Amino acid sequence: MKSCVILISGRGSNMQAILRANVPMRTAAVLSNDAAAAGLRIARDAGVPSAAIEHREFSERAAFDARLSAEIDRYQPDFVVLAGFMRILGPAFVQRYAGRLVNIHPSLLPAFPGLRTHRRALDAGVRIHGCTVHFVTAEVDHGPIIVQAAVPVLPHDDESSLAARVLEQEHRIYPQALAWLARGEVELGVSGRVSFPHARAAAPLIAPALES
Ligand code: GRF
Repeated sequence: MKSCVILISGRGSNMQAILRANVPMRTAAVLSNDAAAAGLRIARDAGVPSAAIEHREFSERAAFDARLSAEIDRYQPDFVVLAGFMRILGPAFVQRYAGRLVNIHPSLLPAFPGLRTHRRALDAGVRIHGCTVHFVTAEVDHGPIIVQAAVPVLPHDDESSLAARVLEQEHRIYPQALAWLARGEVELGVSGRVSFPHARAAAPLIAPALES
């Protein structure tokens, strides 16, 4: 069975959704850059090895990245899964795990890369918002897209109601994307394009409004 190491920084609800879903991928470890991350406890309670590598103890990003990859490599994972990991990873780290490093972002990329995505979506007045699972490349929040889920932005929404609607979909599409990866049903081609070699799996947009 394929395996992964999940990187978190806080609450860990995406990590928990992955652990709970029936993903054919073993979570070898959960690592955080912050020992206070609530998700570490969830991982421990689930019996998954976990550790914190405090980024504050490193004066240079590259040194932190090197320490983090040394810890990841102890587990020899097939995939490295960023789930609310709030540190920017440098080019050497990204290159080391190229094609095996994935992230979830709370917007429909390429709209709203970066932080405070729900606030910015509301301010922009978009009618559709959502989330994206993508391969990580050197440019933050710009890598090749594996799957997206769209949600409506409703007239009464505030940041927290919109975030909750998006989060529910994050918890669906991240396990889905990892299952595709585990089964070899999604690939990152040399051109940098994502392909679905088996047409059966090709449902890279999940639009709940159309399903209900
Ligand atoms: C999620 O919205 C994720 O998309 C973003 O940070 C949040 C992390 O939440 N990158 P959690 O720690 O998975 O609960």
